[in-house]
Amino acid sequence: MYERLIKCYESFKSKINFKPEVALVLGSGLGDYAESIQVEATLDYHEIEGFPVSTVAGHKGRFVFGYVNEVPVVIMQGRIHYYEGYPMEDVVLPTRLMKMMGAKILFLTNAAGGVNYDFHAGDFMLITDQISNFVPSPLIGPNIDELGLRFPDMSNIYKKDLCDIIRESAHDLQIPLQEGVYLQASGPNFETPTEVKMCRILGADAVGMSTACEAIAANHMGMRVCGISCISNLACGMSDEPLSDDDVKETAGRVAPLFKQLITESITRMKKVL
Ligand code: HPA
Repeated sequence: MYERLIKCYESFKSKINFKPEVALVLGSGLGDYAESIQVEATLDYHEIEGFPVSTVAGHKGRFVFGYVNEVPVVIMQGRIHYYEGYPMEDVVLPTRLMKMMGAKILFLTNAAGGVNYDFHAGDFMLITDQISNFVPSPLIGPNIDELGLRFPDMSNIYKKDLCDIIRESAHDLQIPLQEGVYLQASGPNFETPTEVKMCRILGADAVGMSTACEAIAANHMGMRVCGISCISNLACGMSDEPLSDDDVKETAGRVAPLFKQLITESITRMKKVL
């Protein structure tokens, strides 16, 4: 695995001369953000030797390199999902690669179902902790000692200072911000109403199909992680509406302008902790 990672890194190095400080992963319906920054270069996933390539329609597969108010960033426009059938080590390969590119902070975003009854479709939720629910750890298998420890601590994945920056940014922009625990389910099916009830009992506030595995891999490597969920819908059984991916994307797209402001402001303020 490590050799494959090195190969991907060398492939990247041969094409792109850019050192990001912040890595941003864009969730479903939020991908347009990458086009709004000062773009310096792009690299399609399929141009990288050994890189897993996404199959989901509507997920653009490329890295975008550029600046958010002078902060050098790499953005994943389209991520790899476990439900596509990739092994977990492929799912987190891009995260590991972005660390090798130089990124110290991983900023994760996603569209998620609200499990907390206080949430509404269109809300943003600062992720404060996570649950991997029947999703295997990306660290299963021989430990990659070059990256991190065999038994890494997970008591503080979502870093307090980064959470504070996002909170303060939302406050100053007057964007309401919920907070809570994100639960990763495998997908691709949405949950049953009873599974959603289970998520709530387990302590989750939002449920989705990504993020937790990437956060584990990043924390393993000592990256500093933060994240925001866009609550695109209330989870199954909480409203009379059946769920559809189109509705998820529609809601995420509707709040994308606010989301864009929040991300830009937060990344800009991260300059002081880099
Ligand atoms: N469940 C799981 N994943 C999701 C949902 C949901 O309700 N909404 C957006 N992604």
